[in-house]
Amino acid sequence: MNDRLIIFDTTLRDGEQVPGCQLNTIEKIQVAKQLEALGVDVIEAGFPVSSPGDFHSVIEISKAVTWPIVCALTRAVQHDIDVAVEALQHAKHRRIHTGIGTSDMHIRYKFNSTREEIIERAVAAVKYARRFCDDVEFYAEDAGRTDDEYLARVVEAVVKAGATTCNIPDTTGYCLPDEFSRKIRYLMEHVDAFSAGRAVLSVHCHDDLGMATANTLAGVVAGARQAEVTINGIGERAGNTSLEEVVMALRCHHALDIDTNINTQRIYATSRMVSSLMNMPVQPNKAVVGRNAFAHSSGIHQDGVLKNVQTYEIMDPRDVGIDENSILLTARSGRAALKHRLQYLGIDLDDDPLDKVYEAFLRLADQKKEITDDDILMLAGADRAATHTIRLDYLQVTTGMGLRSVAAMGLNVSGERFEASATGNGPVDAAINALKVIIRRKMTLKEFTIQAISKGSDDVGKVHMQVEYDGRLYYGFGANTDIVTASVEAYIDCINKFKK
Ligand code: KIV
Ligand code: ZN
Repeated sequence: MNDRLIIFDTTLRDGEQVPGCQLNTIEKIQVAKQLEALGVDVIEAGFPVSSPGDFHSVIEISKAVTWPIVCALTRAVQHDIDVAVEALQHAKHRRIHTGIGTSDMHIRYKFNSTREEIIERAVAAVKYARRFCDDVEFYAEDAGRTDDEYLARVVEAVVKAGATTCNIPDTTGYCLPDEFSRKIRYLMEHVDAFSAGRAVLSVHCHDDLGMATANTLAGVVAGARQAEVTINGIGERAGNTSLEEVVMALRCHHALDIDTNINTQRIYATSRMVSSLMNMPVQPNKAVVGRNAFAHSSGIHQDGVLKNVQTYEIMDPRDVGIDENSILLTARSGRAALKHRLQYLGIDLDDDPLDKVYEAFLRLADQKKEITDDDILMLAGADRAATHTIRLDYLQVTTGMGLRSVAAMGLNVSGERFEASATGNGPVDAAINALKVIIRRKMTLKEFTIQAISKGSDDVGKVHMQVEYDGRLYYGFGANTDIVTASVEAYIDCINKFKK
């Protein structure tokens, strides 16, 4: 019988810390339910003491899911633990994840403390958490740069205090796979609780040097039996280890004899949902879920794949839920077909919102031949702009080679119509200049990406923007078959988020 790796998903905590990726509670519940259907064992739902929004989301996620353990993060601070306990009160299975920095760097500069005092604080936090919860995970922040002998002492002490899982994070993404493997092996050999099965060793890697998945797998091969991951590898800075990469690497390498509870056929839908809700495009060459992950363009590859698909494919795309032959929706598709596809993508809509999405679907289907999953997710999330006080009423742009572009625009600002026109060195520049004539604030465009959702020239363009205003960055999103309109919508999305 193979060993089982516990999958601990932190998309809604570490992943959600990424600027611009914040979700509201309804969206978090949607992701949590999808993670449950995917088969993750633990959902890290948030850091309740960090904000009322996080606190509320942990409560609602606890109510919404049944099978996974719902976990809440805390610092090694009693008040954090109290708040986490309150947030987890409705969870059917709950876990408190508490911890403290253990590297000399953290001990000295972050805590102005000593190694011995850090052990005392860690032990006190775990003992306190155990008063409310049988399932307590301890994290040794910056374990990747922590001295092994000291780390083993910390882990030994927290396990004795009641920790049932010990998380060894490579917080800064510093380690090399070989180095991380040695660290995990050292802990497996020097902490009896791991070999005796009294505690689980967990790995949590960041991707600053592009080694998060390699380090996680090295840790698993060395004995870790929980991996902390996110969908699409999203997370602070360069991100976390991606769930889909770890799970599929284990599926492909049967010889390791380690498997997970993940229903791999739900991977692709989950990836699309997270990307769409978090406004975080997946790079086309991303392993397992990128648009090109299974696309063969070179003649040699195509020839081989036609003769026997295994010549160049180590995974069947259908195993991760990508089915090129799945029915594409068109203008002739009915409401039931749309509802079915939405459900497959993890979105369950009641009749009224479904009617609205269906109307938008028909409008889009008039403009492009085939409606893809990304289009559907975009339409289902379109009501995110419902609370906007500034909206685009109309936009007309004249542009062409050798001409200076001219844009005319009407904006609805809290019910009042404002109009302006401007020129620019291209259609987007002209449109944004017109917008700035109406919205007279000192705003600077910092980042601007346009991505076509799939293939044809009739496709929907998705625009992601970052606008700086009053010393802060705001993230916006727009999607339209007209990329100039999508760009203006993304800019307006940013403006609607400005702190008053
Ligand atoms: O990367 C890290 O160290 C973390 C801990 C808070 C678990 O995310
Ligand atoms: Zn982390």
